[in-house]
Amino acid sequence: MPFYHRLGHIPRKPHTTHYKQDGKSLYREELFSTLGFSGVFSNKYHINMPSKLLRRKLIDMPDSAEWPNAPLVYTHFFTDNIAVAGDFIWSRRRCLFNDTCVISISAPTENTDRFFRNQFDEYIYVHFGEGVMESDYGRIPFVPGDQLIIPKGTTYRLEFKQTEGNKLLICESATAYDIPSKYRNEYGQFVEGAPICERDIKLPEYLEPRDESGEFVIILKARGQLHELTVPHHPFDVVGWDGYNYPWAVNIHDFCPIVGKIHQPPPVHLLLQTQTFVLCNFTPRLFDFHPDSIPAPYFHSNIDSDEVLYYAEGNFMSRKGIKQGSITLHPSGMPHGPQPGKTEASIGAKETNEYAIMIDTFQPLTLTLPVKESLDESYPQSWLKE
Ligand SMILES: [Fe+2]
Repeated sequence: MPFYHRLGHIPRKPHTTHYKQDGKSLYREELFSTLGFSGVFSNKYHINMPSKLLRRKLIDMPDSAEWPNAPLVYTHFFTDNIAVAGDFIWSRRRCLFNDTCVISISAPTENTDRFFRNQFDEYIYVHFGEGVMESDYGRIPFVPGDQLIIPKGTTYRLEFKQTEGNKLLICESATAYDIPSKYRNEYGQFVEGAPICERDIKLPEYLEPRDESGEFVIILKARGQLHELTVPHHPFDVVGWDGYNYPWAVNIHDFCPIVGKIHQPPPVHLLLQTQTFVLCNFTPRLFDFHPDSIPAPYFHSNIDSDEVLYYAEGNFMSRKGIKQGSITLHPSGMPHGPQPGKTEASIGAKETNEYAIMIDTFQPLTLTLPVKESLDESYPQSWLKE
């Protein structure tokens, strides 16, 4: 929802007649809104009534069970060691969660005819893989580094060019992903100095409406359960839409970091915020230029945040033993910082080539069994040997 967008054929005014080519039958208007009628919204025009439903049934969730009595310690696990397979819906493995945030990894190994709809907003980081995300708003081709933002309730599908080597980090949110207000002026335009701008935003491209009858399956994730909905027409039957509520994407390689004379705190890496957590991009950057600066972060206790980092590329400057695809969790209330030798090694360094995604939640996260199964058991004691 960065700004107003429109595609396809829409009538001159909302809530007025929009006739099909026969001049008699109407396209069906659907207001797709948030916060009741008071938040951002879009108006979509369907060939069919969007409420047509043949059947629904509950299905088992291929989700990951909670790790009972998981220790409250510094946690590091290797997500590449978690067994994952299936289509983009089924290959999701929940790792960390609370009531308003669910962090999962996924590695789709097949494409599917099924569609997915989530009652949580979704952020999908494409670590590896190439393909297209299709929804009734249009198509967004994606490449490695893309970060797809999918509003809750959007019916969509991911199609991959290849069925091996794909890897996704997914973060579901109970509230919408917003672009921080500090990056936008009173008109909504990105301010000078923001790390991204309008030119970085990937918008849905026009997708020819599908006027097809048959049986189409939508997997709906809602209220902690999975529901299989069978509808009698193709879900992507929209001839036109306009508004502010739609999927979009921004690539992590387009995030322009803000640097300083001395160490800059994580809020300079902020990309998105929700009502209960923030999401940051760490990207290659020049280090601080004070002659005595220490580029590595200082030890810190963020007493109200659980801090999650997903390591994507490069050498992470403050951590030892981290691999591509690693996740660390530093729970609230536990001081953390660089491991032995890392602070000293950073002095005099000129730049870093790291890519990482950080999620700081304001409520504690619960761990799941996939974390236990891919755990680095030596991590909690990794600060002992100086
Ligand atoms: Fe931290």
